[in-house]
Amino acid sequence: MALFVPPKPSIPSEPLPFRQFLRAIRTNALNTWPEAAYDQPYLRRGLFGRTNYLLNEPDAIHRVLVDNPSNYRRSPASVRILRPITGQGLLLAEGDNWKLQRRTIAPALAPRMMPLLTPHMVATTDEALDALQDRIDAPVNLLETMQNLTLEIAGRSMFSLEMHRYGAEMRRMLTEFGENHARPSMLDLLLPPSIPTPGDFGRRHFQKRWMGLIDTIMRDRLNAPPPDEPRDLFDLLRAARDPETGTGFSPDQLRDQVATLILAGHETTAVTLFWAATLLAQAPDEQQKLAKNPETRTRAVLNETLRLFPAAFLIVRETIGPDQAGTHTIGRRDLIMIAPWILHRHRGLWQNPDAFDPSRFLPDAPPPPRFSYLPFGAGPRICVGAQFALTEATIVLAALIGRFEVSLDSTRPVLPVGIVTTQPDHAPAFRLRLR
Ligand code: HEM
Repeated sequence: MALFVPPKPSIPSEPLPFRQFLRAIRTNALNTWPEAAYDQPYLRRGLFGRTNYLLNEPDAIHRVLVDNPSNYRRSPASVRILRPITGQGLLLAEGDNWKLQRRTIAPALAPRMMPLLTPHMVATTDEALDALQDRIDAPVNLLETMQNLTLEIAGRSMFSLEMHRYGAEMRRMLTEFGENHARPSMLDLLLPPSIPTPGDFGRRHFQKRWMGLIDTIMRDRLNAPPPDEPRDLFDLLRAARDPETGTGFSPDQLRDQVATLILAGHETTAVTLFWAATLLAQAPDEQQKLAKNPETRTRAVLNETLRLFPAAFLIVRETIGPDQAGTHTIGRRDLIMIAPWILHRHRGLWQNPDAFDPSRFLPDAPPPPRFSYLPFGAGPRICVGAQFALTEATIVLAALIGRFEVSLDSTRPVLPVGIVTTQPDHAPAFRLRLR
């Protein structure tokens, strides 16, 4: 049977002229890369006096992410855009401060902790699917369902918080953030983060309200004395001490960490589950195979979903000093882009790259070429929540497809849009039927 090829955004045949390039960054970063990006080992262009590399070569990617990561930091534009929402948390931390944060958080999200977290995940998923069952044959917004479900799972399993009291307000603020503050302007890209741009005023105001909301959500936890034995990630963070100085996280730092982990820990998994459902709705034979054989096929479908629609479509770094990455002599303050969106659809690395084919990831299939599949990044800054995300997504997807036959209610193509994460251009209506 012919493989399903999901619709994709229009790809420019030539590198975009400057103005169109800037517009594409604001509206859909996936449209900034020309056709050549999907064929060539790398692309290089100058932007605001800096050299900008898009790397598709394993050796060069390995050098940046794994061999010499301390020479590469988060880009100024990432810091400017994400700081209001993640504060001083793990995502944007650098140097020794990053090390301390990572050492504290990683053990709580390690594979051996998953059996403790899965009961929360299963119970929350069952509640959400019971609610969907009341909507059989009515149009269902699975994007919103998945956003609420993954938010609830993140809150409950990491911080013992019932999120439904705050979920609607959080989701409203995150939508506002995506629409108004996450689209970089020319000045946002041009100026160093220490010089505020007009967009930063709105971002600062947003940060006050957002962190205020997280403070409210955490107030009871912050005011209660710490328990003798940590019960969840919040208690672990609270008990953490810098081995050299003996200092712990301040209340503001704790709050920033919670904001970071709730944000990074739910939006990416929500869109991944949304894309998986959208692909399966359009490939009914794959959906049928998954329903019959969830043990072997759920992970393969998720891996293939993360290949075609990697929630983190772009990993960016700024170089601190010069370096040799593969064949490239990279200068100080050059920008390095490693784009899972491009790598995962590269014609030199994959066969039939645009087709939905979960069998690529079945246990007996050959592994993908080295460094051609990076949905969670690589090296010391690899996603700290990868196990959490995969465990959660496997539970939710297997339960959803086990219980319902999922189809789309309209034929309007669902197109990916790259703004912070890989979002759909609209939330299509789905129909569910009990299996
Ligand atoms: C399908 C879901 C997810 C995807 C595709 C994803 C992807 C990524 C990627 C590509 C990075 C590396 C970025 C870089 O190197 O610049 C990253 C980092 C990170 N992720 Fe995830 N992630 C997912 C789920 C999660 C979850 C569930 C959590 C928390 C529980 C989480 C928390 C983080 C944090 C805190 C970082 C920064 C780590 C550091 O800098 O040390 N992510 N994620």
